[in-house]
Parts: sequence; structure tokens; C-alpha cells
Amino acid sequence: MSDQNPKKVVVLGTGGTIAGKATQASDNLGYTAAQVSVADLLALVPGMNRVLGGCTLVSEQVAQIDSKDMSFAVWQVLAQRVQHHLAQSDVQAVVITHGTDTLEETAYFLHAVLPAQWLGRKPVVLTCAMRPATSLSPDGPQNLLDAMAVALCPQACGVVVVAAGSVHGALDVQKNHTYRPDAFSSGDAGALGYVEEGQLRLLRNWPLAQSEQAQPAIEKIATLDHWPRVEIVMNYAGGSAYMVDAMLQPLPGVPALQGLVVAATGNGTLHHALEAALRRASQAGVRVVRASRCANGRVLATEHAEFAHSEGLSPVKARVALMLALMSGG
Ligand code: SIN
Repeated sequence: MSDQNPKKVVVLGTGGTIAGKATQASDNLGYTAAQVSVADLLALVPGMNRVLGGCTLVSEQVAQIDSKDMSFAVWQVLAQRVQHHLAQSDVQAVVITHGTDTLEETAYFLHAVLPAQWLGRKPVVLTCAMRPATSLSPDGPQNLLDAMAVALCPQACGVVVVAAGSVHGALDVQKNHTYRPDAFSSGDAGALGYVEEGQLRLLRNWPLAQSEQAQPAIEKIATLDHWPRVEIVMNYAGGSAYMVDAMLQPLPGVPALQGLVVAATGNGTLHHALEAALRRASQAGVRVVRASRCANGRVLATEHAEFAHSEGLSPVKARVALMLALMSGG
């Protein structure tokens, strides 16, 4: 691309701790998330111009929320804005600032719905922080710089997460610490790479876009008033049928249950009482998927397994996958 047509990186803000404020700089926990605009966050990052080279930086505030409150409405807008920007010929990459609490769900959702046409050629880089912008030692500015370095890598593509110097793929990334800055892991898949003083050391291939997947188009998702109701239940010692049986009962004003993901023990095992309830749910037409509550590994298919397994997805990502499958009639 010539200097007359400089490349552009678009940063979409959604809130989170990276945009959080506390009343005291020493307070890394008692803050309010989603207070600082994405434009102000970017303006505060020292060295950003050096990383950008000649690239233009454009920002847009898509939402301003604590990501524990992430909603389908925000996902609808976010997916449309990302798709819009990726489709522009002068846009090289989209970076998203996001809260850490549901970041892995948003990353997986975007990975699942964004067209391979764009995702196969351009990266979508989510980043975040565990400490608020007002902290004595905030992690947000370094994460933003690192995210920008990854976004500008010539071969970068797919949906990735950059935090604490590591790059994770959307399929594998999980938040696995409650307060430390290095809170994310890709489990036994391992990180995609590391950002070392602004340089990416790539260890694995960039994630492949889900081109052939039968996902509903973003345009269809954008017009949905109600997403399929899919809930998560967990297996544990002393497990019971109560939760599942209660969810099968119709309630006024509550959409009927369409899917259940079970965070099973180990390799997808279930307490016999919960298993019986899930069988009743399945017979009533509810789609049941088995994921594991273990942070590492995946549920391996066994010959006589009664319920589908999550194909390596964690319970929260399996829920997103099941909602999308139900939307597309799959
Ligand atoms: C959030 O998820 O929005 C708050 C927590 C965080 O970003 O670390």
C-alpha cells in the first residue's frame, strides 16, 4: 500500500477494567469498570505513534460496559461494526478493548460469525486489562501497545486475544485467574505466541476462520429479537435433577428452553440423577451438549455416549456454539 493510501487500524471500545477508574491509585480491585472512553485510553498510551509507524488510528465507542453484563444486543452491534470495518480496503486490522470476564465468549462469538472472506486476511485483536486505568501500575497501556503490534503483523489473521505479553487464539483462550495481570491461558493448546518488546514471536499458526461452518450471517443475527435460550448446568458431587427439571417447566414471559450445555465432570461424566434429567430434556426436544468443567483437555467421544460432546469447547463457548447452531436450524 502506498503512502497516499495509508493503512488504518480501527479500535472499538466496549468498556471493561481497561477503561476502569478507582478513587485511589493503590486500589486495583475497588474500581468501577467502563469509565474512560476508548479515545482517551489510546491518547494515554506512551509510544503508540512509534508502534503505528505511518498507520492511522481510528477509534469508535461501541459500548461502555462491565463485561459481566455483556448482552446479545452489544454482540449484535459489535459483530456488525467489526464486519463493516474489516470490509474497508484501507483497514488492516480491528482491535477491540473488552472486559476480561466474558472476553473469551466474545472472542469465540466473533470467531464463529465473522466471514472467512475478511477473517482469513485480517486480524481481530481483543485486548483488556486486569487493573484499572487509574492504577499505580496499569496493565492496559502495555496490552494496547502489544495488541497494536500484533494487529500490524503482515501475516496476522483470525480472532486473537493479547494480554500480558501472550497471544491466544479465540478457540482456546480462557480466563483462569481472578486478579493477576497474567490471567489468561490457552490450556494444553498453548499460546499462539508472545509479544517481546514489540515483536511477535509466533509459535503456532494463526487461527483459521470458520469459513465452511453453517453459521447464521451477521445480518441475520443483527435482526434477531430473541436468541435461542440455552442454559448451562454443572455436574458435581451430590448432583440432582432439580435444576434441569425446573428449567423444563414453562414460565410466563420466559422463552422455552432450547438447549442445555452440561459442564460435566472429567471426560464428560454425569451423576446418574442429572443424566436422567438431561435424558428427559432431550426427549422433550432440548439439545444437550456435554462439555467438561476441567480447565484442560477436551471431552473425547466414547462409543455409547448419549449426548453430543462440545468438540473441545469450554462450557461457555459451547453455549455460544449451540445458540448459533439453533439460530441456523443446525
Ligand atoms: C469486566 O470484565 O468488564 C470487568 C473485569 C475486567 O475487565 O477485568
